[in-house]
Amino acid sequence: MSPVVELDHATLQIGGRAVLKDVSFAIQPGEFIGVLGPNGAGKTTLMRAILGLLPPAAGRVTVFGRSPQRGDASIGYLPQLRTVLPDLRVRGLDYIASSLHGERWGLPSIAAADRKAIEATLDDIGARDLAARALSDMSGGERQRLLLAQALMGEPKLLLLDEPLISLDARHQEVVIDVIKKVCRERKITVLFSAHELNQLLGAIDRVLYLGNGQAELGTVDEVVTAPVLSRLFGTEIEVLRAGGHIFVLSRGRDVERDAHNHDHDHGHHGHAH
Ligand SMILES: Nc1ncnc2c1ncn2[C@@H]1O[C@H](COP(=O)(O)OP(=O)(O)OP(=O)(O)O)[C@@H](O)[C@H]1O
Ligand SMILES: [Mg+2]
Repeated sequence: MSPVVELDHATLQIGGRAVLKDVSFAIQPGEFIGVLGPNGAGKTTLMRAILGLLPPAAGRVTVFGRSPQRGDASIGYLPQLRTVLPDLRVRGLDYIASSLHGERWGLPSIAAADRKAIEATLDDIGARDLAARALSDMSGGERQRLLLAQALMGEPKLLLLDEPLISLDARHQEVVIDVIKKVCRERKITVLFSAHELNQLLGAIDRVLYLGNGQAELGTVDEVVTAPVLSRLFGTEIEVLRAGGHIFVLSRGRDVERDAHNHDHDHGHHGHAH
């Protein structure tokens, strides 16, 4: 089986600076990959490269065995920055429909086939009731599910979810993870799921892709989440503690994941591990 995503000595560079340098790994069909790493490690940059938005400065990135193609319908994407708020009065169904065929804003009348497809996807993620509800009346978790449904439209074979848990409480995080896991297993979708905390993902992921210090390590949690590997990726001495089914990644006694938490709401103070 050929990999879904492969980096072969790839260097991803932004503004002349290498974010990832000479990185190689291969993600296999159907894998659920947790993408972790401190702020600025390159999680979003990697997803942009997979989408064909950032050609590698060196080496190769291949997706489904070829160079990434912009606008590839076989890739579903949930971007990290969701600052462009849609008109909140709009219904869930109309919101998804308006993004289906590359329309910009405006509410086209929804073709019957589109309506069926949208409703089927909402059903899959247990959110059929969102179709008729206005975005303004949805909780953060419900809105997140609506965006997930949007990413699933068009039957993607690869799903790139950039921090889908941000701004959700623990219970909603769990619900979102479970739903994604279930739908992607059923539809045999390969998933890259970026997050700042490993623990919630432990039950869902097949392997972890940990980024840091320009490098990447792909493997099982036991292979990757170790003091030697993470010390290299964080560029500082890291301790890994396991207790009660949880894993704590500590730098000088501080939890590096907790430090990075909620960074999206606090742009002036990034939790870099210096
Ligand atoms: N448009 C840009 N211009 C300049 N530098 C950028 C740009 N986008 C990203 N960078 C830099 O590239 C590096 C990687 O950023 P990236 O967004 O991929 O990190 P990340 O792992 O997604 O971080 P976070 O956890 O904060 O989302 C960072 O140092 C960032 O400052
Ligand atoms: Mg990011």
